[in-house]
Amino acid sequence: MASSKTVGFGLLGAGLIAPFHAKSIAAIDGAKLVAVADVAAERADKMAAQFGCKAYHSLEALLADKDVNVVCVLTPNHLHRDAAVAAANAGKHVLTEKPPAMSLADTDAMIAAAKKAGVHLGVVLQCRVRKPIQAMKKAIEQGRFGRLLQADAYMKWFRTTEYYFSDPWRSSRQSGAGVTIQHAFHYIDLLQYLMGPVARVQAKMTNLGHPQVKLEDSLQAFLDYGNGAQGVVVASTALWPGTDIRIEVNGANGTAIMAGEKMVTWKFREEKPEDEEIRQLGRGSVATAAGGPADFDFADHRTVIEAMTAAARGEAQPLITADSARKTLEIALAMYQSARTGQAVELPLKDERVVWD
Ligand SMILES: NC(=O)c1ccc[n+]([C@@H]2O[C@H](COP(=O)([O-])OP(=O)(O)OC[C@H]3O[C@@H](n4cnc5c(N)ncnc54)[C@H](O)[C@@H]3O)[C@@H](O)[C@H]2O)c1
Repeated sequence: MASSKTVGFGLLGAGLIAPFHAKSIAAIDGAKLVAVADVAAERADKMAAQFGCKAYHSLEALLADKDVNVVCVLTPNHLHRDAAVAAANAGKHVLTEKPPAMSLADTDAMIAAAKKAGVHLGVVLQCRVRKPIQAMKKAIEQGRFGRLLQADAYMKWFRTTEYYFSDPWRSSRQSGAGVTIQHAFHYIDLLQYLMGPVARVQAKMTNLGHPQVKLEDSLQAFLDYGNGAQGVVVASTALWPGTDIRIEVNGANGTAIMAGEKMVTWKFREEKPEDEEIRQLGRGSVATAAGGPADFDFADHRTVIEAMTAAARGEAQPLITADSARKTLEIALAMYQSARTGQAVELPLKDERVVWD
């Protein structure tokens, strides 16, 4: 499409995450929310009235709207594949919420459909855009850490039992619920984004605080990275009241720690002039979903959607490609396999079939 034209967005799914997309689109020059679609008609109607756009009650109706250039797939996780493939086949660019899909095969089908249709396929893994993460990424690329030794993610969150029963899919493993693929996915993603490929995973999954829910609400995993470093992922939704996530990177020559969206430790053997400014990154007071599912800011979504707007104009690539999100999915699937068998799992994953019941 011509670069001067407004990019029209259509949201598929009018649930919890949809307002984060709608508010982001409203805040972006050259982007417009055209329509919102949901099979729960009253949800689509209510949101359309709130944000001043059209309401549709099916994906087909949304795809038939010529003003929609980008479809944001905001449905439960097991429904991403079919919606993304249909949207790509209809010639729409696609921005799907995480995880891209429930399996590598489904993700590959989405990638193939987008490629065949010549449209962009992006994934919302918005934590990557946090300033401390970008600073860590740059320092790793510059070699400031020296030999990388350790990179960990700690997600000690709290979700009520009511949260798990607020929509049927939130307590259904086959729909992509569970702390590993649903909540910790963002932070597993940050580790692979920063550290590169994971070579081996050993995981243990338990239910510490939600006995009525037949899912893991807690994960502990050991990671061996391809670069020789090691790491742990500790993630739970059972730890009241929920505290800020922490991403920690240690190298022979430096250590960096982000808590929530704030840099709390930034120390290198060789100090640089910009380091004092980097230590101030993040505001600290911004919620990052530790205590509740909608308890966070939409600024990071906005950055991802801004890049998708540019991509739809032919001016850029999506910020997070499906190829890069696929790597995170592979690690999460390996964690499920390892937890089930009690064995360490080597990557790349040889057989993904034994993951879901
Ligand atoms: N990036 C983030 O931080 C973040 C946070 C929360 C959720 N998410 C992701 O967003 C997605 C949606 O999560 P949510 O919490 O908003 O779920 P939700 O249950 O609140 O909303 C999903 C909506 O999709 C609708 N829907 C279901 N099937 C449909 C279909 N076939 N066609 C059209 N609409 C359909 C439902 O009626 C519901 O309104 C999930 O993939 C989730 O992982 C991402």
